[in-house]
Amino acid sequence: MLVERWESRYFQLCKTVLHECRFQKYECTFSIAVCLMSFMASVARVRPLLCFLKPHMSKAPVLLIGSTGPTGRQILAMAAAVGVPVRAMVRDPDRLPLDQRCGAEVVRGDVLDAVSLRQAVAGTSAVVSALGTPLLLRQVTMLSMGTRQLVAAMSAAGVGRLLCITGMGAGDSLGHGGFLYDRILLPALLGRIYADKNRQEDVVRDSPLDWVLVRPARLIDAPSKGSFRCITQFAPGDRMTTIARADVARFMVDELQRPRHHRASVNLTD
Ligand SMILES: NC(=O)c1ccc[n+]([C@@H]2O[C@H](COP(=O)([O-])OP(=O)(O)OC[C@H]3O[C@@H](n4cnc5c(N)ncnc54)[C@H](OP(=O)(O)O)[C@@H]3O)[C@@H](O)[C@H]2O)c1
Repeated sequence: MLVERWESRYFQLCKTVLHECRFQKYECTFSIAVCLMSFMASVARVRPLLCFLKPHMSKAPVLLIGSTGPTGRQILAMAAAVGVPVRAMVRDPDRLPLDQRCGAEVVRGDVLDAVSLRQAVAGTSAVVSALGTPLLLRQVTMLSMGTRQLVAAMSAAGVGRLLCITGMGAGDSLGHGGFLYDRILLPALLGRIYADKNRQEDVVRDSPLDWVLVRPARLIDAPSKGSFRCITQFAPGDRMTTIARADVARFMVDELQRPRHHRASVNLTD
């Protein structure tokens, strides 16, 4: 639009010059040449500005892992709402039917399959992991092994930014979930998963990437409140409670658009 308006203004100017210099052939030709040259120079100056005003116009997609899970779906929707292009890696594309893709490109892949992972990572600008595993009685290794492969694929492809969801009870968030969670739920039901989440966090922390470990409190399916706490340094007595999946999605997408945390763990709670 801006370019078009400038173009018509210069066209009018050229016409005026032509009219006034009708009988002065050589001066007229010279004036038109000057007008055209200054027009070309202006367009060349304006074009980069237009690209800056629309940052996602030609941006590479973000790779989303775990987009079929309830949090991943919220991230998919939030990214679409603000125009962040997404490539969703899924183990089974049927789990994400066309009408639930929010315009995302869908590729088949598994974090335990290095080849599919490398193909999914290629050409992306960042990776968001909402990877999770069901409650299992046997040893869990998928989170740490898959994340190790992911870090390798990202490093090989030169993709630098990783936002990785783990959870309340991993790392230094242990002991901030309240009596029921810390003393009963975590040791009795989630022990194996959180042992692997801790290994997963170590893999991320030891990587050369620009990472953010995102630890939500207990996830609930509720509308976004828009306000929640981001704890980067726990104080004694700090307690994590719940957070809406939609707010976790908001945080993730916001962090993609305006990176505020680098090589840091962020604990999210109402
Ligand atoms: N529930 C809570 O209160 C709570 C609290 C804090 C943190 N968290 C954590 O938040 C994260 C998201 O939780 P959620 O409940 O939204 O999701 P979820 O139900 O755990 O979904 C897990 C996702 O990971 C994918 N996945 C599993 N194995 C995979 C593999 N080998 N390769 C590629 N993708 C794989 C699943 O895909 P498929 O469709 O193919 O299975 C699914 O999309 C999890 O890490 C969870 O532990 C949960």
